[in-house]
Amino acid sequence: EKAGYKHFMLKEIFEQPQAITNTISGRINPETGEVDLPEINLDREAIESFDRIFLVACGTSWHAALIAKYWIEKFAHIPVEVDIASEFRYRNLLINERVLTVSISQSGETADTLAGIRRAKEMGSKVVTICNVVGSTMTREADGTIYTHAGPEIGVASTKAFISQLAALFLFTLYLAGKKETVSAEKRLELGKALINIAGVVDRELPRLRTDIENLIDDFWDCRDFLFVGRGLSFPIALEGALKLKEISYIHAEGYASGELKHGPIALIDKEMPIVALIPRDEVYQKSLSNVEEIKARKGRLILFGTEGDTHLEKLTDDVIYLPEVHEEMNPILYTIPAQLLSYEIASRRGCDVDQPRNLAKSVTVE
Ligand code: M6R
Repeated sequence: EKAGYKHFMLKEIFEQPQAITNTISGRINPETGEVDLPEINLDREAIESFDRIFLVACGTSWHAALIAKYWIEKFAHIPVEVDIASEFRYRNLLINERVLTVSISQSGETADTLAGIRRAKEMGSKVVTICNVVGSTMTREADGTIYTHAGPEIGVASTKAFISQLAALFLFTLYLAGKKETVSAEKRLELGKALINIAGVVDRELPRLRTDIENLIDDFWDCRDFLFVGRGLSFPIALEGALKLKEISYIHAEGYASGELKHGPIALIDKEMPIVALIPRDEVYQKSLSNVEEIKARKGRLILFGTEGDTHLEKLTDDVIYLPEVHEEMNPILYTIPAQLLSYEIASRRGCDVDQPRNLAKSVTVE
């Protein structure tokens, strides 16, 4: 049932193009970019009534929420707060019927996230859940749903479910932007096309990325610590890269916003410390580059994920993983792939139980 792959995780990484296609199919018109999400149960009037959105999730699903904040605020112009569910459920919430709460959960059973939406509902909020498991508790309790349709995910480390969450959250953003008309129809079509095209790009690049990462890890698989850094849309992917590496390889890893380095973590950098920097050619590229140059000046061992043709990166390190230029809003989807493969290949080389890491459960149904 692993279809020739050594682990479910690797199989699921390679299923990601299909997972994206499953998430978006039938929901977006390729001619107009208009998005239809009937099971969300929110019409134009309801959407106009919201003055804030809370995104609530745990772990990898929380990273998806962090990306969505950038997208929703930029394109739908609704302020977004992102909460870790275990914090959300116990803090003093300022929630009323003008707040939309969205839970993001692969399983739909995570205890803290479920408790969070129950609490939000009690306080008068409408609740939508973005979920991969049909009929799960969260989907039954929510007022509306967006199913991700990624297919069953067996590996404890979330891969294709995360990619599908990103696709669903981008659809959600386009849906809100369409109902509120916060961006032009032309722009919505451009964004919709970017989403439709990304599955093909991921599919094309996956085999080559795997080879590039396999070659790269010879020098890194036995390191004790890693840092992952990124700015803007790449920041949550840095967090996700670090989480993936920790959970399956047991290497200590931290993710930071690149701009935070100088506020503490830069003290860790020496010639032993590997730092994965995500540096696509996006609107914050120049700023990210100066952060990377600071790391270089302190002799950190740089691994760069950057844009094909950006030869400047080769002057900074021999270890560059190139990714094709795509619409910049799609970079989080694309840059997740080498981060997943890096942790997979390292964990596999270390002989770890990739699909069932110690101390972890696929579904965390206790708090
Ligand atoms: O099922 P959920 O999406 O609610 O699960 C949330 C987290 O437990 C989950 O994403 C966890 O962090 C994964 N093991 C990460 O790979």
